[in-house]
Amino acid sequence: MKFFIDTANLDEIKEANDLGVLDGVTTNPSLMAKEGITGEVNIIQHYIDICQIVDGPISAEVIATDYEGIVREGEHLASLHKNIVVKVPMIAEGIKAIKYFSSKGIKTNCTLIFSAGQALLAAKAGATYISPFLGRLDDISTNGLDLIAQIRLIYDNYSFETQILAASVRHPMHIINCAEIGSDVATVPLKAIKALLNHPLTTSGLETFLADHAKGNS
Ligand code: E4P
Repeated sequence: MKFFIDTANLDEIKEANDLGVLDGVTTNPSLMAKEGITGEVNIIQHYIDICQIVDGPISAEVIATDYEGIVREGEHLASLHKNIVVKVPMIAEGIKAIKYFSSKGIKTNCTLIFSAGQALLAAKAGATYISPFLGRLDDISTNGLDLIAQIRLIYDNYSFETQILAASVRHPMHIINCAEIGSDVATVPLKAIKALLNHPLTTSGLETFLADHAKGNS
């Protein structure tokens, strides 16, 4: 399973990239605003900065919601760097635009997926990735992981090449469960990636090894 980091914070992106396990980055307008990145020029520059840190797919989200606007904005974003993936919302105009981008060889990430039917439509339109938001489903007492499993089954039934990019991942068990289901990618906050490192037996085991080494060499 590929790991993308879900943030627009450059320090966090660098830290995850330095760990050596990062495959890509996802952002969204809320994450950009959280970092204080506003205005088209700054937003564009920020995407370029991210592309210079991570050599992998970088999702850049369109703001337009009409077909012509999505196509115009998406083509501009895609022209910034070879690794840009145009993130398009799951709406009718978005599906039409994904079909267009697919015919032009522009990679897409269909975002705000909350049902298997939406995932099926996006795959038929030729989306490169789809982002089911599992944490936001959990937030409304619906099992987000069940949706990931349902989409996995449907995509495998028809050999769709669209990759499942599990999004709105909140904690390490979400990551493990996505890997068990066979999600292609999980996009994860830095905190959840780092949480995978920890186990109390690793900590105590290492302390003992180092203490025994020190005794034997004193
Ligand atoms: C996906 O690409 C989104 O950026 C993200 O995963 C949403 O996560 P949230 O529900 O924690 O905001």
